[in-house]
Amino acid sequence: MGERFDEAVILGLGYIGLPTAALMAKNGIKVTGVDTNEEVVDTVNKGKIHIVEPELSGLVKIVIEENKLAASTKPICADVFIIAVPTPFKDNHVPDISYIESATKMIIPYLRSGNLFIIESTSPIFTTEKIANLIFSERPELEGNIYIAYCPERVLPGNAVYELENNDRVVGGINEESNQAAITFYSKFVNSNIYPTNARTAEMCKLTENASRDVNIAFANELSMICDKANINVWELINLTNKHPRVNILQPGSGVGGHCIAVDPWFIVSDFPDESIIIKTAREINNYKTLWVIEQIKNSILQFKMENNRKPKVALMGIAFKPNIDDLRESPAKQVVKEMLTFKNAEYFIVEPNVDSLDLGELTSHEDACNKADIIVFLVAHREFLTLERQKQELDFCGIRRR
Ligand SMILES: NC(=O)c1ccc[n+]([C@@H]2O[C@H](COP(=O)([O-])OP(=O)(O)OC[C@H]3O[C@@H](n4cnc5c(N)ncnc54)[C@H](O)[C@@H]3O)[C@@H](O)[C@H]2O)c1
Repeated sequence: MGERFDEAVILGLGYIGLPTAALMAKNGIKVTGVDTNEEVVDTVNKGKIHIVEPELSGLVKIVIEENKLAASTKPICADVFIIAVPTPFKDNHVPDISYIESATKMIIPYLRSGNLFIIESTSPIFTTEKIANLIFSERPELEGNIYIAYCPERVLPGNAVYELENNDRVVGGINEESNQAAITFYSKFVNSNIYPTNARTAEMCKLTENASRDVNIAFANELSMICDKANINVWELINLTNKHPRVNILQPGSGVGGHCIAVDPWFIVSDFPDESIIIKTAREINNYKTLWVIEQIKNSILQFKMENNRKPKVALMGIAFKPNIDDLRESPAKQVVKEMLTFKNAEYFIVEPNVDSLDLGELTSHEDACNKADIIVFLVAHREFLTLERQKQELDFCGIRRR
């Protein structure tokens, strides 16, 4: 194979696309980052970033200054095209691949023989084959002349730069040549193992990883509700249970959020409703846990009101979907805060140290909120909360006192 894959266009400059673009650029690939959001393009072209991701801002600044990365609202010709746009689901949990389709349509006119086309967006199975058909229906002369592969991303937001470089990767080409091309390309900036398979297995692999996490968290969340009823400290229980050499229970929380674990299992359930019993039940348990948290807070508020003859001040601590990030997508904590604000039996302080503003209301610093509140509700275990002095009345849904 003679292709060099020196120039890449990546569509979508979000949590996945921007770190990937910066890392490719750092490793000598000339990168054009394309985003439909002009604000994102302007920010990146100034050498700045629009997301909270440690180590990324320094990297983006350098590669922009050295002209190795440029952002644009339009693609250009290149050797490699990577799709890293969102894949949400519609109201009824049916996956929405329209962003992948429209990003693909944007680049179809720029494709040339010998190009490598990669989908990184999390996708329901068969997506890569569908998108290949879309490309070949508009450009039949490219069939057999371009490489197409699905290469899912498995980074942890907040540690994206390190994990992009060091996590093992799975690549699923539409044929053997596409696998080889994808491996050649990723070897330029990934330091770890790259495992080839077919497109469908790679798509299912990504969905299975997140469904597996969801099922395991659902187990911990179910335990937390059982323990509450039985008056057992679930954090102590899990810690002790995990002393068994072959048991490793995850931690319960306010539910499951984010763009991946709370979404991707539905991509399996939607296509295989009769077979996905555990996967669907886990989704339901994790969603139910958030409603359970809301009920617990409401009960504490009413109890306080009865005992003190006044409305309590309640600090709602953390809105992001997990600790130490600014990502609020599908966040159960945000759902809790939204619901609590409609419950008029208390006055609320909303705390989220990782964002500057919020569409739900004014933010309060964690110190202020803790000093003023009667009830402290820990929804997310942000590092800022770990050192706060213990207050009289706390509701701890994320194990802040056990970390
Ligand atoms: N965030 C994660 O941790 C993570 C991890 C693994 C996989 N993924 C998957 O990666 C994909 C991207 O996720 P993300 O978190 O980076 O999303 P994101 O919302 O942070 O970023 C997506 C970007 O794509 C842009 N966009 C939308 N349509 C476009 C188009 N047609 N052309 C160019 N740009 C377009 C948006 O403006 C946005 O800036 C999703 O499929 C997601 O499931 C995300």
